[in-house]
Amino acid sequence: MINYLVTGGCGFIGSNFIKFVMSLPNTTVCNVDKLTYAGNPLNLSEFEKNDRYSFYKVDICDKKTLETIFKSKKIDIVVHFAAESHVDRSILSGIEFVKTNVEGTQSLIDVSREYSVEQFIHVSTDEVYGSIDDPGKFSEESELHPNSPYAASKTSSDLMVLAAIRTHKFPAKITRCSNNYGPYQYPEKLIPLMVSNILEGKPLPIYGKGENIRDWIYVGDHCEGIYSVITKGRTGEIYNIGGRSEIKNIDLVHKIADELGVVPNIEFVKDRLAHDERYAIDFSKISKECGWYPKIGLEIGLKNTVSWYENNKKWLDNVKSKEYMTYYKEQYETS
Ligand code: NAD
Ligand code: DAU
Repeated sequence: MINYLVTGGCGFIGSNFIKFVMSLPNTTVCNVDKLTYAGNPLNLSEFEKNDRYSFYKVDICDKKTLETIFKSKKIDIVVHFAAESHVDRSILSGIEFVKTNVEGTQSLIDVSREYSVEQFIHVSTDEVYGSIDDPGKFSEESELHPNSPYAASKTSSDLMVLAAIRTHKFPAKITRCSNNYGPYQYPEKLIPLMVSNILEGKPLPIYGKGENIRDWIYVGDHCEGIYSVITKGRTGEIYNIGGRSEIKNIDLVHKIADELGVVPNIEFVKDRLAHDERYAIDFSKISKECGWYPKIGLEIGLKNTVSWYENNKKWLDNVKSKEYMTYYKEQYETS
């Protein structure tokens, strides 16, 4: 048996990753999640009665409780997703980003060292590199240049992991991925927000002129990329993961509207502060060393995603709670 501890498993990528790991033989998964607004245990309701799965509602900053979990579960591999993950929220207020993303990561490193885990995967982001002009791409050697409080907190957490690797020979690996999309993504992020607004007949808020470029990756490809790093990646290394699907926001929103068969009601709104112009990923290292490459192109991935949201309106309504409405108002309805 390989015993995984996954943090943030009730969020978007974490819940997709747990489904992936639970489909493998001889694995157990212990999911540690604080259940912030972004965490939804219903994403994993199919495992409620599975004795290979356990769930603990815990803040990763709470070292004492983490210690009791690590002790009883005999953890082999930690996969660390838990984070405050939304750039716009970090612009409204940064403190929770520092607490969870920086302090929480250090707390998890400390307990993982105490219980001598075999492997620690730190799930990071291409946003640590900042923005890059065409035709450049970020490599693992690119300069760290975070521009938002979210990106700065993720960069800080990467540096804490790298420091543990260098100082304590901590058996960690870091992955840095581009923009994910797919089932179970909270509708504060571009793709599910646009789908949700179209389904509700609301306008589609696009920041600035919609010319910013992101490299989109289907969440299943990201999960397989992380798994390839676990099984084939070298300890102490950083691996970029990208989708080979660069597109301007405005063009992406048109594609989503086409998929739903509507003419988009676009509203150009005030630009995001320090809005990164373009992300583009060179993922040749993970391809060469781990044999991984993205399999799902944007056309198929978007089709799957849009139809998942259409078929899961209940899930969508359920997560658009009071908190979501308050956030939506603050972000989009005040000038
Ligand atoms: P998400 O916001 O959907 O989920 C975050 C999860 O972490 C939630 O379940 C939340 O309850 C939990 N959490 C938050 N604070 C916690 C705490 N203090 N203790 C325990 N649990 C806590 O995020 P996501 O989009 O799934 O991203 C997961 C990870 O992947 C993050 O580390 C993010 O930086 C990274 N990442 C995301 C993307 C993307 O496009 N979404 C791309 C690259 C990297
Ligand atoms: O690149 C990886 C990162 O991708 C992850 O580290 C983050 O956790 C994840 O949230 C995502 O960050 P972005 O800021 O790129 O994603 P978001 O979906 O918020 O925005 C994508 C683009 O769309 C960005 O250029 C801003 C724009 N946008 C977003 C929203 C929510 C709009 O124009 N309007 C919107 O309402």
